[in-house]
Amino acid sequence: MKKLTFLPLALIFAVMSFLLITESCSKKSANNPTPVVGTTLYDSLGGTAQVMDPTHSGAMIEKGRLAIRNVIDSTIFVIAADSRINGHFTVLLSEVGKGDLSGFTDLSENLTTFVSGATGAKDYIYIGLSMKDAHDPATNPRMNGKASNADFDAFVSDLVTGANKNKVPANLINSIGKIVESLRTTVVQQ
Ligand code: HEM
Repeated sequence: MKKLTFLPLALIFAVMSFLLITESCSKKSANNPTPVVGTTLYDSLGGTAQVMDPTHSGAMIEKGRLAIRNVIDSTIFVIAADSRINGHFTVLLSEVGKGDLSGFTDLSENLTTFVSGATGAKDYIYIGLSMKDAHDPATNPRMNGKASNADFDAFVSDLVTGANKNKVPANLINSIGKIVESLRTTVVQQ
């Protein structure tokens, strides 16, 4: 008989303990919300929220794309002044020297769209050259000579400089760096 009364009590105790644990866990997660599943690097860079485009009066742009474009544009300027690799960009630099910014605008757009897609953007589709063709002078006459591993290292360091100029947090620069590094063997063709 004693055993029979003990069993239901034990059951009630177990259920109450479970409820108490569940309650304390949900309180903890309310104070420390876990990241939303499915958040992309693009979301961390600003995501799809529409903001005013500071360089196109009256136009809107996704915050993530704007953050990436700012980094890309800064990086192109850093590369232009970097004697380690600016020799690959002679076509672009000669155009800019003559006041023709069309190539710069196209490169900025293409690189921005490429990186947006690579970080998880859904609203922009890269339609430029493949990474192999873009970096082979035979298929892209704007690429002056094939890139070496040392060129690639310099490109990465210029990209980090461009990202730092725009105050991108270190952990996000690190994540972008991993994506870029995954393309090394396609871009480096000598
Ligand atoms: C993972 C790293 C890189 C990415 C994601 C990347 C991406 C791109 C993209 C999207 C384009 C435009 C392609 C088009 O016009 O259709 C491009 C062009 C170009 N890239 Fe890269 N690139 C990388 C590394 C490099 C490196 C290491 C060099 C040489 C140091 C380089 C030199 C160039 C040049 C010279 C062009 C042509 C620029 C112009 O239009 O005048 N890239 N790249």
